[in-house]
Amino acid sequence: MSSDTTRKRVCVVGSGGREHALASVLGRTADVIITPGSPGIPGSVDTDPTEIDADLFVIGPEAPLVDGLADQLRAQGKLVFGPGADGARLEGSKAWMKEVLATAGVPTAMHGTFTEVEPALAYLDTMPEFYVVKTDGLAAGKGVVVTHDLAEAQAAVRSYLSGDAFGDAGRTVVIEEGLTGPEISILAICDGTKAVALAPAQDFKRIGVGDTGPNTGGMGAYSPVPVATPEVVDLIMTQGVQPTLDTLRGMGIDYRGVLYAGIMVTPEGPKMLEYNVRFGDPESQVVLPRLTTDLVQLLSEAAAGNIETAPEFTDDATVTVVCAAEGYPAAPVKGSDIAGIDEANALEGVTVFCAGTGGSPDQLTVNGGRVLAVTGSGTTIAAARERAFAGVDKISWPGMQFRTDIAEAAAAASAE
Ligand code: AMP
Ligand code: GLY
Repeated sequence: MSSDTTRKRVCVVGSGGREHALASVLGRTADVIITPGSPGIPGSVDTDPTEIDADLFVIGPEAPLVDGLADQLRAQGKLVFGPGADGARLEGSKAWMKEVLATAGVPTAMHGTFTEVEPALAYLDTMPEFYVVKTDGLAAGKGVVVTHDLAEAQAAVRSYLSGDAFGDAGRTVVIEEGLTGPEISILAICDGTKAVALAPAQDFKRIGVGDTGPNTGGMGAYSPVPVATPEVVDLIMTQGVQPTLDTLRGMGIDYRGVLYAGIMVTPEGPKMLEYNVRFGDPESQVVLPRLTTDLVQLLSEAAAGNIETAPEFTDDATVTVVCAAEGYPAAPVKGSDIAGIDEANALEGVTVFCAGTGGSPDQLTVNGGRVLAVTGSGTTIAAARERAFAGVDKISWPGMQFRTDIAEAAAAASAE
């Protein structure tokens, strides 16, 4: 443990639950400030990151990465964990990501990219009866339709390409065959040349119990994931992440940051659904608390281009349950006072991470779609799950939504 005089100063950029988790785990060994942060996250300062002095910058969300914030900070001589705009295009353009996957030879869904309605509809007609339509550009995790209904897929193509649904982000669409199997998230820490995997997590994307209703940014997560065996993770790293990093390098892209691989473990093996260029949210709220390795050290090494530390994790499991605003994901209702956060935090093995919170530290209010992520840890997934829900039970505001089935199947399976 470093003494106070050698403690590093780390600046986290962002304001959500992922950034709260990053700040809290980085805060084990460093002094952390977070910008813009939120009233629920200690250390928040609303200062432009280019005006902040820190030993390490960790950029949370995709939007500033796509906009080149990492490049700007590096140009100032800062040590930055997060890809430049060139690498962030992997998340900024799904069409380009698919080209990179093809060059790298990474297994993925059969797909086509379109800017015109007629050829897109014609391609849909050639697909097996399970369709996926995605916006090329960023759509806050909501620009994806997964359906067995051809008419719904056709309607998505029309509304995306017209610009009505997602503006310019939808004027190019990627159409894919639907894949089935459990979905897992691997967050790989990259130093430009090599990548190391963090513990796997599984996310719950739909708003409703039983994976029903529209997609969201993620309603809960757990780690470890029984289907993500060390062999599966190894395959994903050797056949997916490492060839991608090599391909990026071949294109002159020095990728230092997280490659978040969204994977479907299909009957034919793992297939890459997508890359994100940042930590997952709410995956971070379950993966990072399990780290026993110093995160400041690991991310500093990656940012400097030379990872030497191997990430290690406790055997304890974690489960996080997202508490979302009434009306989320379509139209979150903001402004209500939130009750019970301190009571939840006081429970053994429970930590509340603030996502969309406003108001003041003394009285937090609902200020976003996903408002809180309540993480429980325990010796089994079932124990962690019980703690997370005990935490959620303490918390309330009018119209609060959460999924009661987060990690239910995994808890039952691992108890057998
Ligand atoms: P994406 O924004 O690409 O991560 O897609 C959001 C979600 O849609 C994923 O997490 C999956 O649950 C689902 N999805 C994406 N692509 C496919 C696919 N080819 N087959 C089945 N589901 C998919
Ligand atoms: N949990 C999904 C994401 O971070 O994109």
